[in-house]
Amino acid sequence: MAVQEIAKGIYSVGALDWDIRDMHGYSTNRGTTYNAYLIIDKKITLLDTVKHYCMDQLLENIRQIIDPAKIDYIVANHVEMDHSGGLVQMMELCKPEKLICSPMGKKALLDHFHQEDWPYEVVKSGSEISLGKRTLQFLETRMLHWPDSMFSYLKEEGILFSNDAFAEHLCTSERYDDEIDMSILMQECAKYYANILYPYSGLVKKVIDTVDEMNLDIKMIAPDHGVIWRKHIDTIFEAYRQWSRGTASKKVLVIYETMWESTRKMAFAVEKGLLENDVSVKMINLKTMHYSDVIAEVLDARAILLGSSTLNNGMLPAMNTFIYYMKGLKPFNKLTASFGSFGWSGEAVGLMNEILEGLKLELVDSGIKHKYVPTEEALEACTEMGRRVGAKVAGEFTA
Ligand code: FEO
Repeated sequence: MAVQEIAKGIYSVGALDWDIRDMHGYSTNRGTTYNAYLIIDKKITLLDTVKHYCMDQLLENIRQIIDPAKIDYIVANHVEMDHSGGLVQMMELCKPEKLICSPMGKKALLDHFHQEDWPYEVVKSGSEISLGKRTLQFLETRMLHWPDSMFSYLKEEGILFSNDAFAEHLCTSERYDDEIDMSILMQECAKYYANILYPYSGLVKKVIDTVDEMNLDIKMIAPDHGVIWRKHIDTIFEAYRQWSRGTASKKVLVIYETMWESTRKMAFAVEKGLLENDVSVKMINLKTMHYSDVIAEVLDARAILLGSSTLNNGMLPAMNTFIYYMKGLKPFNKLTASFGSFGWSGEAVGLMNEILEGLKLELVDSGIKHKYVPTEEALEACTEMGRRVGAKVAGEFTA
């Protein structure tokens, strides 16, 4: 990443990772960036480091501005290794006066790096540290994305360094939201929210409310992945408000995996009933889409209908993977139902229902299962289920 001065004396010095395609199970099809920021003031301050194998990029960028040894403060907004992988090397190089972190951050840093003698400076929500002409104010943002996470707000410049929040996995040499295609940007933001922040939506809502109440004059949001927001700040804030509330569109997903096409036939019979109504339908064969892309579709869907054949007394493997991944991300405000074919035991539908009920999603049907190849009657039952779900969803969106 080329160094960019994002405000006078404030530089984006992070790294581009064009090649990464997997971030703890999340398929990062467009790569990502690990952003870090350098503030030149009386106390020269570095906000976050980068993944360990990108440290050469970070150091080269910093050296274009100053000798890294001159850094006085390092702020660790988040301890996950994509932001702290280079911290040990940076601490040795800089020997900073302060390593600024949240209370949970200190614990996490100790648990990761076991360095009792680092100069920890623990800051709580509302704490401020003067850098000279400028001031950093801190806001703990627990579980956005780990317990240690925090925002740093540079008051005089109105820059919110938001770490994982308002981020997206998108590798681009452009640095700002207004320099790239907005539809791609928002698609990646939604995917990021669904895969990273979805289970913490209640806390996201609280953080957004807190930032609103603080009445900050935010001129830029500088996250640790992807682009800096300067033109579409309201858009990303509003998207987070909606996602954290579980706002849905009139979209219905039929997500299925099939063994010998019987469950696929059932899926398309469900679709037939759905399409009798004014709803948007997406058919997702789990063999054709990565589960982390499917969960991005789930984010704003009002209904998710799941189909799996039974294999060895369970679900088919891709459905098994997807449904357990989804379970961890705790989707809410969805109508659901399940269906599937079987040969002799037929557990898949019951297992899917169990997980959907455990998530407290509204089951609109007890589930449809059919032995071997579905009959016309079985397919009509699937169509009827689709018809009912479609009518319910369409009804909610009728003025
Ligand atoms: Fe980008 Fe939770 O780390």
